[in-house]
Amino acid sequence: MSLPASVRIVEVGPRDGLQNEAAIIPAADKIELINRLSATGLRTIEATSFVSPRWVPQLADAAEVLAGIERRPGVAYPVLVPNLQGYERARAAGADRVSVFTAASEAFNQRNINASIDQSLARFEPVMAAAKADDVPVRGYVSTVLGCPYQGDVPLADVTRVAVALHRMGCEEISLGDTIGVGTPAKARAMLHAVAAEVPMEALAIHFHDTWGQALANILACLEEGVAVIDSAVAGTGGCPYARGASGNVASEDVVYMLHGLGIDTGVDLDALAATGRWLASRLGRETGSRVGRALAPQ
Ligand code: HMG
Ligand code: MG
Repeated sequence: MSLPASVRIVEVGPRDGLQNEAAIIPAADKIELINRLSATGLRTIEATSFVSPRWVPQLADAAEVLAGIERRPGVAYPVLVPNLQGYERARAAGADRVSVFTAASEAFNQRNINASIDQSLARFEPVMAAAKADDVPVRGYVSTVLGCPYQGDVPLADVTRVAVALHRMGCEEISLGDTIGVGTPAKARAMLHAVAAEVPMEALAIHFHDTWGQALANILACLEEGVAVIDSAVAGTGGCPYARGASGNVASEDVVYMLHGLGIDTGVDLDALAATGRWLASRLGRETGSRVGRALAPQ
C-alpha cells in the first residue's frame, strides 16, 4: 500500500506531556514552549486541558496559558475538556477548538474520568451541542485501543463502538490512543483497519505512547494502512496519570525524522523542533526523550 504524501502532526506535548510531570512547570515556561512549537511549522498544538485541577494539578493554569500564548495564523490550538464545565472554562479562556476523551475500556475510564463509557458519552452530548452552536470543532479521543492496564486485552469491537459513537456525535476527528504503549504493528494495523471500516480514514488519527518501544513501528504500519494524522509529543514527554505504567508519547522529533526519511511532507522544521525538545528537557531538568533530539544536539 502506498504511503500518504503528507502527514499532519498533532503536537500534544504541552498537554499530554506536561500533565504527567511530577514537578509543576511554571505557566511562563508552558507559554514559551507553545510559542516555540508554533514557530516550527507545526499546524496543530494541543495547548492544555480544562479538566479538574484536583485531578490534574499540573494543568491548573490552563486559562493563564491559553491567554498568554501568541496565536500564529494557520496554527490550531485545541484544548482537552472532560465535560460541559470544562468546555465553558475553555471557551471563557478563548479556546476555539476542543477535544473530548473517553476510552474503549470501562476499567480505565472509571479511573481516568470517574464515569462508565456510556456515562462519558452522555456527558459529551451537551458539549457537542454547545460546540455546534459556537461553531467550535471537536476532536474525540478513544484511549486504551490496544490494551488496558486494568482490564488487559480490549476487544476491537469495543474500540470501534466508541469511535463510531464519537464520530456520529459530531467529532470531526477521532484519535485512537494506545495509552500504555503495549501495541505491536500487526495489532495496530488490524485495529485501525477495523475502525476505518466504520469511520472514514480521513477522520482518524493515531496516538501512540512508546512505553514498550513499539511506537514508530506501529506508526509505520498505520501509515501503510492509510492514516495521515499522527499525535506525538516533543521530547517524548507524556503519560496519563490514571493509566498505571503509561510513559511518554512517541517523540515528535522521531516521528518527523522517520516521515521525512520516507519522503512524507510534514511542514515541520526538524532542527527547530529538536532544539525546542532539548530546551524543554532542560526546563524539566533532564535529557530529551527523543533519540533524534539527542542525535541532532550540538556536540
Ligand atoms: P468527578 O470528581 O467525578 O467530577 O471528576 P464531578 O462532576 O463530581 O465534580 C467534582 C468537582 O470537580 C466539583 O467541584 C466540580 O466543580 C469540579 P467541587 O464542587 O467539589 O468543588 N469539576 C471541575 N473543575 C474544573 N474543571 C472541570 C471540572 N469538572 C468538574 N472540567 C472529572 C470527573 C472528569 C472532572 C475528573 O475525573 C477529571 O478531571 N479527570 C481528568 C483526568 C485526566 O485529565 N486524565 C488525563 C487525560 S486523558 C489522556 O491522557 C489520554 C489521551 O492522551 C489519549 C491516550 O493516550 O489514550 C487523551
Ligand atoms: Mg495520551
